[in-house]
Amino acid sequence: MEKHGSESYFVEGEGLLTESVEGREAPEPEVRGLAAAPPFRFSRMGPSGANRQLGESSRKKVANEMAAGGGGSGQIPSGFTYLGQFIDHDLTMDKTKLMLRKQLSPAQLQQGRSPALDLDSLYGGGPQDPESAKFYESDGIHLRMGKTKAEGGFPAMDGFDLPRGAGSTAAERRLAIIPDGRNDENLAVAQTHLAMIRFHNRVADSLPAAVPPAQRFEKARELVTKHYQWMIRTDYLTRICAAGVVSNVFSQGRKAFEVGVPANQMPTMPIEFSIAAFRLGHSMIRAAYNWNKAFDNGSGFLGYLFEFSAGGGNLSGAARLASNWIADFRRLYDFGEANKPDLEVPAGKFNRAMRIDTTLVNPLKNLPPETFRGPDVAFDDPRANLAFRNLTRARMVRLATGQQVATFLQGKGVNLTKLTKAQIRNGSNGADLSLLTQAQLDAFLRDTPLWFYILREAELNAGKLKGVGARIVAETFHRAIEGSTHSIIRDAAFKPTLGPNNTTFRMVDLLLFAFEGKKSLLAPLG
Ligand code: HEM
Repeated sequence: MEKHGSESYFVEGEGLLTESVEGREAPEPEVRGLAAAPPFRFSRMGPSGANRQLGESSRKKVANEMAAGGGGSGQIPSGFTYLGQFIDHDLTMDKTKLMLRKQLSPAQLQQGRSPALDLDSLYGGGPQDPESAKFYESDGIHLRMGKTKAEGGFPAMDGFDLPRGAGSTAAERRLAIIPDGRNDENLAVAQTHLAMIRFHNRVADSLPAAVPPAQRFEKARELVTKHYQWMIRTDYLTRICAAGVVSNVFSQGRKAFEVGVPANQMPTMPIEFSIAAFRLGHSMIRAAYNWNKAFDNGSGFLGYLFEFSAGGGNLSGAARLASNWIADFRRLYDFGEANKPDLEVPAGKFNRAMRIDTTLVNPLKNLPPETFRGPDVAFDDPRANLAFRNLTRARMVRLATGQQVATFLQGKGVNLTKLTKAQIRNGSNGADLSLLTQAQLDAFLRDTPLWFYILREAELNAGKLKGVGARIVAETFHRAIEGSTHSIIRDAAFKPTLGPNNTTFRMVDLLLFAFEGKKSLLAPLG
């Protein structure tokens, strides 16, 4: 099954950078007809970081410190962690992998292998594509949902699991029938995907009766995609990035990334975003959640979220999700923001994401091998440490350092203040660098890995990206929205119609629409 992180990076103008963290060879791109085109279009936004990479001993020490836990909770509701993971999969989804190859034109191939926020991970090739028809109901308009299995006193419930059940072996039948299997890597991202399925289906149902059946799917898809982009731009991005940077990029345009290219030209994905900035989500993951009524008071451990998925686990041996694991969205998103006090839970039940900073919760030091294609490795082997993997991936592609990118962005006219060495060393209640030798520390403070630098910036800014991190994230999202088939940037007249007014559409509005504002659907366990 496809994994959440890429194992090889085809960087425009540089070719394929292969080398896996396991020391195994990365797969070669397919060489067959049209499929011989590069797998996914990565690019380098700024300079190369050749000769500025951390050695193995420093990477191990820093990664151990980063994954030692700490930092504490931040302000962002924890649903946004997994919305971020869902968005990452949408951005990096290569839908040409699941479409019927011979029907693809070179233009479609390029589009499918370019970052875009157009929900390919939800729609695949669309209901007319023979390979994607299985994701849809027989009407070719609605997306399929699945049924949970009775457990813990809760009955089987229709529409609360991803669709499953194809194939001949038990393991195959367990797999989710969705275009991007990565969205079943953990239960939180799987339930986010399911919420998006519901959103599409509800939008399709709410179209005027006059829309003919043949147009209903496309009309719904366009409305869904534009509302999703609006929500990302106004709600998700402004929670993780300094709001001023987001509004500057979206009102003044980009300064550093693919500046001046025609809006409908296919974007690329900068490795500075993929290998550093957007891995910010790793620091938001909690070790435990007040998941729902059945797994309350911190008993929804991260390990269970893997186990109760078919990607990071095996649904605990079952063929479908157990009913007592259905999400309680009131605990993941704050419906008080939408003035719905009846959908709020007491503060003690609510889950906030960990602060965006240089620390990761300790379970991420020993990832389940299913999450990284890995071989089974011994406890505390660095290859299962997510921080070590991220730092090593950066070295593999010779990613620019934080200092290099800061200088690069300043040269492009971006107004930012570089972190001082003291700030990088001390942070604010984040990863401790005191285990580095003096020589290692000197090198680290001079050539700071971009991922760490960006997390330190956020840590010193009360858990919101600023400076280098905010700029990379906001510009990459801007470009991905601009280059999407449906785009709120190219269609500047678009205004949301499914929220409380024509300027507001937040994730809580999306969920309220998808789940019909009903507590019985947003939190079926009560
Ligand atoms: C429990 C949740 C998660 C797990 C277990 C996980 C694990 C991983 C792993 C193992 C990799 C590959 C590391 C490597 O070898 O390079 C990866 C890559 C990545 N992760 Fe996560 N991750 C999680 C959540 C998130 C979230 C919430 C975000 C963002 C908001 C995120 C963003 C990324 C990005 C951008 C990459 C690189 C993708 C690419 O290669 O194109 N991850 N993650």
